[in-house]
Amino acid sequence: MSITAIKGMNDILPSNVETWQFLEQKAREVFGTYGFSEIRTPVVEKTELFCRSIGETTDIVEKEMYTFDDKSDNSLTLRPEGTAPVMRSFIQNRLHTLDPVSKLYYMGPMFRYERPQKGRYRQFHQIGAEVLGVEDPKIDAQVLSMLHHFSCAIGLESVSLQINSLGCPECRPDYRKALIAYLEARLPSLCSECQRRYTTNPLRVLDCKASGCREATTDAPSVLDHLCSGCNDHFGQVKAHLQALAIPYAVNARMVRGLDYYVRTTFELVTDQLGSQNAVAAGGRYDGLVESLGGPAIPGIGFAIGLERLVLMKGEGQVQAARPDLFLAALGDEATAQAFVLMSKLQRNGVKAEMDYLGKSLKAQMRRANKLNARFTLILGEDELRTGNAELKDMDQSNQIPISLDGLEQELLSRL
Ligand code: HAM
Repeated sequence: MSITAIKGMNDILPSNVETWQFLEQKAREVFGTYGFSEIRTPVVEKTELFCRSIGETTDIVEKEMYTFDDKSDNSLTLRPEGTAPVMRSFIQNRLHTLDPVSKLYYMGPMFRYERPQKGRYRQFHQIGAEVLGVEDPKIDAQVLSMLHHFSCAIGLESVSLQINSLGCPECRPDYRKALIAYLEARLPSLCSECQRRYTTNPLRVLDCKASGCREATTDAPSVLDHLCSGCNDHFGQVKAHLQALAIPYAVNARMVRGLDYYVRTTFELVTDQLGSQNAVAAGGRYDGLVESLGGPAIPGIGFAIGLERLVLMKGEGQVQAARPDLFLAALGDEATAQAFVLMSKLQRNGVKAEMDYLGKSLKAQMRRANKLNARFTLILGEDELRTGNAELKDMDQSNQIPISLDGLEQELLSRL
């Protein structure tokens, strides 16, 4: 039996890769405009990094990590997300000593042992961005503005931005207490998972999809009613800045995130086009994270976009594959040999040239030129070699341009 890929881990085939490259390229362009630089971290980290940052009682740490011991019995984990590794690198490389504000972005595979379905995979790809060193709500609005800019730049439709504030270590405990008391009175209506976690991670109950939990929490206390004055003021300013920047948003006080490091601003870019996997991108503030990982007390905020979800929404293969500039059709051995040299020379000079390698007839070669949607074709036979002249066929205009073989490159470059 032939070997297949691991469940939930997909190939990105050449027919789709252009869409991926388009999205990655746009992210680089847009993020660059906002002063972000790329950072690349390993795909494997010490397990402890994720337990300490994402939180021991989260779904990710409790059941979704690819964790294994290496040959020296170190517990390692395939990164389930990008923020914790970037923080680890930020601290380890003392990036704060280079600049009081770090704006970093990353893209690459992440791994979570989730039940695969449309938009949810075990290896998936994120494009993420993180800003370290700024507490000012202007940066929250700036990060959201960049996400909005990116989604416009790639032509993403039917998405909306939801924001919330989850408070801080000063006010969250009060909210937690109020929520636990509320849930306690409704325990029998909750699903077994929420009955188990309502004391360890009560906020997650608000996010549970089970109908019983949804009904039981309709009138649950709102986190926004429990914010301390500092958090309330911060959230008010974030909203005011978003309004000033004309970024559309809705406040969703029930939005909780699946990672424990968040404080204050949290957000999701959601769509109704992907069924239950409705978050295309998500993020928030994590002011205590760097310190909790042994670094200085430096605030941070960021987001990650799920690339597979973007590709699903954009439609795979919708970005047109780059077409060849020229297809060289050759007749006979001598012409094939010359066409090969000519093609290689053109390629070195930046012309996207193609030819046949399978010894096909002229008719079959022209069919292939059509299939590849070549911009120009050129037939090279004995006559052309003898006279040094040929006809360049413009496939878009359906006309022939007489050219000398010596002037082919010039002619092509002037017409492309
Ligand atoms: P997250 O909400 O866990 O946040 O993931 C961010 C995005 O990654 C999701 O909105 C979704 O588009 C995509 N995603 C997550 N899991 C899967 C999956 N199994 N299959 C496909 N796509 C998936 C984080 O990861 C945070 N590190 C975001 C962040 C950055 N917060 C601050 N900075």
